[in-house]
Amino acid sequence: MVADVTDENSSAETFPCRVCGGLVRQWFDFGPQPISNAFYRDGDAVAGIRYDLVVGICRSCTMVQQRDECPRESMFRPDYPYRASGSALMRKHFEQVAEWLLATELAGPDPFIVEIGSNDGVMLRTIRGAGVRHLGVDPSRDAAEVAAAEGVRVRVDFFEESTAASIRAAEGPADVIYSANVISHIPYVDTILRGVAELLSPTGVFMFEDRYLGDIVAHSSFDQLYDEHFYLFAARSVQAMVAQFGLELVDVAHLDVHGGSVRYTVARAGVRTPSPAVRDLLARESRQGLAEMATYERFADRIVAIREDLVTLLRELRAEGKQVVGYGATSKSATVTNYCGIGPDLVPYVCDSTPEKQGRLSPGSGIPVRSQDEFSRPYPDYALLFAWNHAEEIMAKEREFSERGGRWILYVPTVHVV
Ligand code: SAM
Ligand code: TMP
Ligand code: ZN
Repeated sequence: MVADVTDENSSAETFPCRVCGGLVRQWFDFGPQPISNAFYRDGDAVAGIRYDLVVGICRSCTMVQQRDECPRESMFRPDYPYRASGSALMRKHFEQVAEWLLATELAGPDPFIVEIGSNDGVMLRTIRGAGVRHLGVDPSRDAAEVAAAEGVRVRVDFFEESTAASIRAAEGPADVIYSANVISHIPYVDTILRGVAELLSPTGVFMFEDRYLGDIVAHSSFDQLYDEHFYLFAARSVQAMVAQFGLELVDVAHLDVHGGSVRYTVARAGVRTPSPAVRDLLARESRQGLAEMATYERFADRIVAIREDLVTLLRELRAEGKQVVGYGATSKSATVTNYCGIGPDLVPYVCDSTPEKQGRLSPGSGIPVRSQDEFSRPYPDYALLFAWNHAEEIMAKEREFSERGGRWILYVPTVHVV
C-alpha cells in the first residue's frame, strides 16, 4: 500500500475505496448526471435515472474513482447503443491488436482467448478469421448479435467470478483474457479479478486498455468522467489493485486512442518479469504528481474555468444569431452538457453516425440526435465537437464545412475555435 496522497488536516469529504477499503478523498462533484448512453425516446424509464457524479482519489492505493454506482442493468441494457466499430480509427486499432495477439500470445498450440465486453465483435472477428478458439462475453444483446452475425462466439452475460468458473469448466483455461474500455467501467472489479485469476492459464496474460488518468489530468479532459468511467486507471493504482488477487502488472503500453489510453498487461505474480516500461511509467506518474491532492485541486479549477468559458461562448454566439450544432453524440457529451447546463436552446441538435442513437434524445440534456448526413442541410456556423478524440477523421470527412467558413469549437484542454 502507498500513502502519500497529501490530504492531512483536510476537512474534505471522504468515502470508502472500492478497491482497497481505504479512505477516498473527494475532489470534484459534477452534480446529478444521467446514464451516459441512455439515448432515449419520450417515455423511456431509463431517461429519468440520475446519480451524483462525485470523484475522489484513495489515500491508500491512489485509485481515482467515483462515489456512487449506477445499476449495471441500467447502463448495459440489451439495446445499449454504443458500437465499438463506429470509427475507422478504432476498427484499425482493434484489427492491429488482434493481429499482434495472434503473432505473440496466441501463437502456441490450440490457443484460447476470452474477451470481456466484446460488443459488436470488432476485435474478435479478426481472431475468428484466423480460426482461433475464442469467446466474447458481453451483456449487450443487440451488439452481441452483430458480432454473432460475423461468426464471432459471444455469451450474452456479465463477466464475473461465476461466469469465469463456468467458462473454465466448459472450455478450459484462457491463454489471453482481453478487454478494452470495460474494466474501468466496473465498480465491482473484485469479482472480475477473481474471475480472471480463476480463468487464466498458469502462464496466460490478462490485457486491458482504458483511458489513462495521466492524459486526462494533462489535457483537462473532464468529459472522460461519466457513469461508465467509474475508475480512472494509472499504473500505480492498477499495480496495487491486481496485487490483491495474486496478479502482477508486467507491462504497460501507451496508446493514442480515446484521447490517451494505456494497455496494462497482467500475469500471475512471479511468472513474468515486469518490463522496464512499468518502472518508467510509475516514475513518470510520480513526476506528474498523480498521487497528490494538489494536482486534483488544480484540475478542479480548470474544469470550472472550461464550463465558464464554454457557456459564455455559446451564449455569445446565440446572441449574434449564429447556429451551433453538436458533432458526435458521445458518452462524454453527457457530462459536458449536463454539468455545463447546455440544452437544445444553445445546441439544437447533435449529428452522429450511429443508427442506434439517431432519432433519440441525448441523456439529461434532451438534445436530439440526427444523422451525420443532416450536418450539411444546411451547414451550421459552428460545430461543437463532442467526439474530439476522432477530430482528425471527422474534420477530414467534413472538410467542406471548414472550406465554406464553418468553425469547430473544442473545449479541451481549453475552450478554442478552429
Ligand atoms: N470493447 C469495446 C470497445 O473498446 O469499444 C466496447 C466498449 S463499451 C464502452 C463497454 C462494453 O462492456 C459494452 O459492450 C458493455 O455491454 C460491456 N460490459 C459492461 N459490463 C460488462 C461485464 N461485467 N462483462 C462483460 N461485458 C461488460
Ligand atoms: P466515442 O468517443 O465513444 O468513440 O464515440 C464517438 C461517437 O462519435 C460515436 O457515437 C460515433 C460518432 N462519430 C460520428 O458521428 N462520426 C464520425 O465520423 C466518427 C468517427 C464518430
Ligand atoms: Zn484504495
